[in-house]
Amino acid sequence: MSTPSTPTHPGTPVEWLEAWTPAEGAARATAAFHAAFAAEPAGVWSAPGRANVIGEHTDYNGGLCLPMALPHRTYLALRPREDDVVRLVSAQEPQAGVWTADLAQVAPGSVSGWGSYVVGVAWALRQAGFTVAGFDAVVDSCVPYGAGLSSSAALESAVAVALDEVHGLGLGGDDAGRARLAEVCVRAENDIAGANTGGMDQAAALRTREGFALMLDTRDGSTRHIPFDLAAHDLALLVIDTRAEHQLVDGQYAARRATCEEAATALGVSTLREVTDLDGALERLGQALPPGAEVEVSRRRVRHVVTEIARVELVDDLLAADQVEEVGAVLTAAHASLRDDYEVSCRELDLAVDTAIAAGSLGGRMVGGGFGGSAIALVRDSEVEQVAATVAAAFADAALEAPGFLVATPASPAGRS
Ligand code: GLA
Repeated sequence: MSTPSTPTHPGTPVEWLEAWTPAEGAARATAAFHAAFAAEPAGVWSAPGRANVIGEHTDYNGGLCLPMALPHRTYLALRPREDDVVRLVSAQEPQAGVWTADLAQVAPGSVSGWGSYVVGVAWALRQAGFTVAGFDAVVDSCVPYGAGLSSSAALESAVAVALDEVHGLGLGGDDAGRARLAEVCVRAENDIAGANTGGMDQAAALRTREGFALMLDTRDGSTRHIPFDLAAHDLALLVIDTRAEHQLVDGQYAARRATCEEAATALGVSTLREVTDLDGALERLGQALPPGAEVEVSRRRVRHVVTEIARVELVDDLLAADQVEEVGAVLTAAHASLRDDYEVSCRELDLAVDTAIAAGSLGGRMVGGGFGGSAIALVRDSEVEQVAATVAAAFADAALEAPGFLVATPASPAGRS
């Protein structure tokens, strides 16, 4: 565990990661489309990145999570084509030029790179029986990239609502249809982009409501909208992008998921959500796991998942009772569990969380898959600047890359901009 001390770089500048206004995002994407394709797009669609209040690594275990949409969005200007050709340009990948694919040839393992998240959605819509043609599209985004704030789900979801509308699929208009679009996006990410993630990020991008966090029950896909107006309590959710590299298409995320699935099988349950007696389950794992399994590791992973689901329920109760400040301690407990039992934190995340708490935050934790990316801290409104400045100074002291900061307020889901 890192031990924050009084920073010796108190004057370190704080970098705020501003969200574009929807008009600004749409104008940028439209102008970039004109430049790339010398034509008019059919429209601009956008989808948000997300923060997750609580419930990490629960979504592929049939568990609960409580994400919210960020004001930071990915904007997509798109024009459908008559053929199967897909041509893509990203303002975030200027050196990549025009990324092209033939939709008819897309299949698991056939494409790579950022464009796979885009064509993956078209492929998954076709797999689900919808008629979708090729398209030209340009992407521009103010969602911090690779920061554990779901820039990939924002991209998929913007593509999903765009294709839904230009092909008149009729899915974007209600929650049942949006749940189907979210499934399509998950399939794109799992099968075409090659990241075996759960469904939290896509649900956050497609199924949230402005002003609310989304209680997602991944056992049955049901949702509840939880009012999340921290400002009314003189509080704020500070997001700290540690700038530590975060990559989901690597072995660690898949390994965590595999360990959970192996444990559930050994315990005779469909998912770890069904574990009701944690102590009994931890004891039984010793006998139940196949020979060669790392029993202690498995026990820690199961303990994280089961206690994390309980923490989501606790936060739900605290918010319902207006005991918002008490959510802070639950976030901090979640961080300890992610760090020690699930082992998905890293030096930068621990430093961000420990420093934010030492500087007066009510609590904090890493968000998303881990191994880098972002942390959140529950902070009194009046202390946001000071907490951010202290974290920035601590990173300078540690000779780490300067972090970026934003204040998360629950924004609107994917749609036409
Ligand atoms: C990533 C994945 C999500 C979820 C989180 C951890 O963001 O995309 O599905 O598993 O990690 O909670």
